[in-house]
Amino acid sequence: MNLEIALKKASNILKSKNIHSHELDAQVILSDLMGVEKEYLITNEEKKISKEIISKYISAIKRRKNREPVAYILGKKEFWSHDFLVNSNTLVPRVETELLIYKIINFYRNKKIKILDIGTGSGCILLTILKELPLSEGIGIDISSGAIDIAKLNSKNLSLEKRSNFIISDIDKCNDSIKYDLIVSNPPYIPTASIKNLSKDITKYEPLIALDGGIDGLDLIKKIIYKSKNLLKKGGLLAFEIGYNQYPKVSRILNENKFKEMGKECDYKQNVRCIISTKLD
Ligand SMILES: C[S@@+](CC[C@H](N)C(=O)[O-])C[C@H]1O[C@@H](n2cnc3c(N)ncnc32)[C@H](O)[C@@H]1O
Repeated sequence: MNLEIALKKASNILKSKNIHSHELDAQVILSDLMGVEKEYLITNEEKKISKEIISKYISAIKRRKNREPVAYILGKKEFWSHDFLVNSNTLVPRVETELLIYKIINFYRNKKIKILDIGTGSGCILLTILKELPLSEGIGIDISSGAIDIAKLNSKNLSLEKRSNFIISDIDKCNDSIKYDLIVSNPPYIPTASIKNLSKDITKYEPLIALDGGIDGLDLIKKIIYKSKNLLKKGGLLAFEIGYNQYPKVSRILNENKFKEMGKECDYKQNVRCIISTKLD
């Protein structure tokens, strides 16, 4: 079978399952299996594919047909131009989360800071910031031991083992004796009742603990704000991601807890998705 036919067949199978990204998914999976860029597939349509790759491609497309995210099928996801290992214990890093990174690295460029990442998952936020701030160090905590295993592997792959530490811990048990310049988080913030409305790609495969933010979606966000009062150094920053409609409520909670907003970032629909604040006293 040549590349053109393999791609068309796979794309049609995924299209028949109403997977909107059918063409792109077929290309991304095949290019990864072949170890080539996507563009190569398009400019080499007549090239024959080995039996070994075809059999791997068939099983990968079967998984995608069942709505498994491409990132889990490939075992990795690109975030801020780095490849992060992911599996069913970790959320797939999202493009919105990169919004958080821009502001932070501009603010702290060339500085030496201590960072805490709450709900670190694959470690994508902490490790990306550490790559951009080579003098800094940080700790990532997560309640999921499976996620911490993956974060440690990502730290090793990015040669950040000396400047990062990953610990299995519930935010409730976070050690107050260490103080941080920066606390970052992409917490679970989906209201429990809304989870069933998410796409099957998410609900069937991504860890519920990474999504479910309790009745109003704000359970972990509230804890992060309360905890940060004791965990931040004077003048330190708290930066975290929120759901598309949570800004008014979260802004009020920050105010009530004596945090001053220093900046916010919106997604392409102009919803505030990331808030950066500092403790007033
Ligand atoms: C939305 S995911 C974010 C993962 C990663 N930071 C990212 O942006 O891709 C939230 C993470 O919070 C973790 N988590 C949930 N409840 C927690 C708790 N009480 N204490 C610590 N981590 C928690 C989950 O296991 C999950 O990895």
